[in-house]
Amino acid sequence: MRRSRNPAARCAVLASLVALSGAAVAAAGGSGAPPAPAAAQAEAAPSEATFNRDVLPILQRSCQRCHRPGTGAPMSLLTFEEARPWARAIKDRVITRQMPPWHLDRSIGEYTADPSLSDAEIATVAQWVDAGAPRGNPADAPPPLDLASLNEWTYGEPDLVVQMKEGFRIPAEGPDFYPSEIVDPGLTEDRYVKWVQIIPEAYCCVHHSHVYVSVPETTEDLEEFRLGMGSNTEEIDLIEYAMGSTGQYYPEGTGRKLPAGGLFRFAPHYHPWGEETIDRQKVGVKFYPPGEVPELIVTAHRIRTGIGHDWKLNREAVEDRLLRAGYDLDLHADRMPAGALIDDNTLNGVALLSIPPHSVVRHERFWPLPQAALVLSFQPHMHFRGKRMLLEAIHLDGRREVLTDVVNYEQTWQIVYPYREPHLFPKGTILHTVSWHDNTANNRHNPDPSGWVGWGGRTMDEMGHGWTDVAFMTDEQYARRLAEREAQANDE
Ligand code: HEC
Repeated sequence: MRRSRNPAARCAVLASLVALSGAAVAAAGGSGAPPAPAAAQAEAAPSEATFNRDVLPILQRSCQRCHRPGTGAPMSLLTFEEARPWARAIKDRVITRQMPPWHLDRSIGEYTADPSLSDAEIATVAQWVDAGAPRGNPADAPPPLDLASLNEWTYGEPDLVVQMKEGFRIPAEGPDFYPSEIVDPGLTEDRYVKWVQIIPEAYCCVHHSHVYVSVPETTEDLEEFRLGMGSNTEEIDLIEYAMGSTGQYYPEGTGRKLPAGGLFRFAPHYHPWGEETIDRQKVGVKFYPPGEVPELIVTAHRIRTGIGHDWKLNREAVEDRLLRAGYDLDLHADRMPAGALIDDNTLNGVALLSIPPHSVVRHERFWPLPQAALVLSFQPHMHFRGKRMLLEAIHLDGRREVLTDVVNYEQTWQIVYPYREPHLFPKGTILHTVSWHDNTANNRHNPDPSGWVGWGGRTMDEMGHGWTDVAFMTDEQYARRLAEREAQANDE
């Protein structure tokens, strides 16, 4: 595996967008339940751990989804023979919690499909390596994972499968490329998505992939959509794939809307990796029954660092920036000018994100929820200087609650963290993100600590936004859901 030792190649094969979901754990033999409590594991931890009895079950649950033949991971970890030469590296990566990729503070929040290891599991792996990585008794080994099932639909059979018609030839060598292909799924009525998943063919070489949906009205719209220049607000980012991801499942009563006439655009990022191959990826969608509209519709929101829709909280800064950007502002207005709100790019262009050389900086962003809502997931997005991002809720009574703290952010792994129980908030609750960028030489990913960095779309520019999946609701729906939760809590 010489390739894996080349840092450049290694970096490039990183799946940049990982959305592990409930089924990742289920497929690995669990019921979607979190890792066994540390105490139970500690009791069972034998003085001398063996591969078959103690380590293999951990690899099956947390590693093999990625570390198996045909994926972009540097080596397979299915068998003792494959894992043994990597024992030291496994211990290092596991102790530092670099593997499996899951970069948050584990003491905060509960997530579906949490692949991370308990302290006891880490101790077991370390013990095994320290003891010379013994094989142990073959009779102790759990049955192997059903690998075919890992390549298939996680949640059963989809109602709609849309595949690239032509697909793309990925050469053995060459630069990464980002083609796009539009396919018409023939949607004649609005439908609501229960779950959605992308399955690629060329597992080796798909860095990550998106499927976007749009209803272009003119040929210009269509062309913009094809080029990926469509409006952020109109286009639906249906699903992202990256190594290890198992699709997205919306909790009961929630779903995404797929509009009639919507076209699908596959937007993969390919990384040539030694062998010519063809990728004709497909996306599968399970719908709510025809005519059935889920109670709540999920939409994706970016909580950007910089300036945006939080006019009231950042009013002075927003005014200042918009004036400089040439907006004719009525300084006594109680609202931001509508035109400025609509054009996301203008807001980005005047964003406050400013990262001086040789410094670690913190930015924050406040987003008062315009309606009561369920918050389903959090996905921080930054580039090379990204170091940490947290999401907190500032409740109506001023109480602050950290929902997720991604303390070891790694830009190569864009992980979606889905809440086991979505957070339910009344209107006016403020979602607050804080991001830290490390523009010093201590950051090993930093290409140039002497440069000033600001907001921008290129990888060497920076971003700092938190993606959240949100389902808005009325105050009545909120009151009902709150009552249900309280009743449930009292029952327990
Ligand atoms: C979501 C996919 C994924 C999961 C899950 C995952 N890995 Fe990895 N792993 C990768 C990729 C991709 C790389 C190469 C990039 C890197 O080094 O970070 C890697 C790198 C490694 C390396 C370094 C190999 C080298 O070249 O030195 C080790 C060791 C490792 N993983 C072990 C594990 C173990 C043990 C687990 C489970 C406890 C695990 N991984 C879970 C994808 C994954």
